[in-house]
This record gives sequence, C-alpha cells and structure tokens, in this order.
Amino acid sequence: MQVQFGSCRIELAQGDITAEEVDAIVNAANSALAGGGGVDGAIHRAGGPQIMEETDRDYPDGCSVGNAVATGAGKLSATYVFHAVGPIWSGGDSGEPDLLTSAYRSCLELATERECRSIAFPAISTGVYGYPMDLAAEHSLATVRDFLIDRQKPALVRFVLFGAGAYGAYARVLESMTS
Ligand code: APR
Repeated sequence: MQVQFGSCRIELAQGDITAEEVDAIVNAANSALAGGGGVDGAIHRAGGPQIMEETDRDYPDGCSVGNAVATGAGKLSATYVFHAVGPIWSGGDSGEPDLLTSAYRSCLELATERECRSIAFPAISTGVYGYPMDLAAEHSLATVRDFLIDRQKPALVRFVLFGAGAYGAYARVLESMTS
C-alpha cells in the first residue's frame, strides 16, 4: 500500500528490513546501543561488525530515549543506519507517545541532513518494548505524514512490517489518512 503526500510517499511493506534498498535503514536500538534481538540483531548480523565498531567509537555514551544517531551500514545495501531508541511501553502515561514521535522525527531530521531520498522504518518499540501495535501505527504514521507535509522530504518513507498483523494495523491507519 502507498499514499502520496505532495511530492513524497509513504509505503507499507511486509518483510525483513535488512533487505531494503534505501538510503537509510532505521534500527530499533536500546539506549546503550549494545545490540540485541529483533531488528537490532538482524541489522548487526546482516551488516557485519563494522556497524557496532562505529557506534562504540562515535557514541560511547549511547543514545537517549526518543533520539537517534547515524552510522554507516556495513555490508547492507543502504548508505546509513539510523539507530533510534523508542520508549518501553509502561501503560501510556509515562510520555511514551511523545518519545516515540521524537524517535521518528529524529530519524527524519537525520535523513534530511544527509540528503537521503529514501528511508525504511521498522515498527519501533512494538517488539520487546511492548508498545501496542495499533497505537504505534497511529503515532508513527501521523508523525511521518506531518513531517512530509511540512518539509516535503524525504521522497520515500517505507514502513517494513514483520507479519500480517503489523501490516494490517498500519494499513488501517494509513487508509484512514486518505479519507
Ligand atoms: N525486519 C522488520 N521488522 C522486524 C524484524 C526485521 N528483521 N525483526 C523484528 N521486527 C519487528 C518486530 O516484530 C516488532 O514489530 O520490529 C518491531 C520492533 O521490535 P524489536 O526489534 O523488538 O524492537 P523494540 O520493540 O523497539 O525493542 C528494542 O529490543 O532488540 C532489542 O536492542 C534492542 O533493546 C532493544 C529492544
């Protein structure tokens, strides 16, 4: 599914984000940038040790929740990996929506600073961090849509969802944005 916002497009895809041929791939990282399972494990496995060497060298203090930092992409076909740290869900009254929005916005700012035309996001925080998928879809898609309308870049934002449930949740929200 895809929806155009001015000269920019949001696309939804199902699959493994490490296979994406885009300028920047977003990692769902932790604040120590220590690696992990899920997207994080898949990116470091496919991209090779160079990515962790860069985070250790350039960001020894890690990255705070709601922010993102950039490295090269090692053996991945992308140019950059943006390591975004989403919030851990703890009921929704601890600022989780603002922190999730901020993590997405940080990646979009990094993409525009680096003149990326395309970026692929996973559903940040919806795995180990427990953010409910329907809410994550609403909050992340609204953030990206508002950024694209405001800034008219990057040209392509693709959400790469793992499984039919995640894709369905995102498709329902994106569909509602067209009416
Ligand atoms: N491609 C796309 N999506 C994936 C992939 C993949 N290869 N692997 C997992 N996912 C999906 C999950 O199904 C989930 O919907 O990405 C979403 C985010 O899940 P996590 O990777 O668990 O990320 P998050 O919830 O943000 O938790 C971050 O997990 O791996 C650790 O180091 C990481 O501590 C950090 C925490």
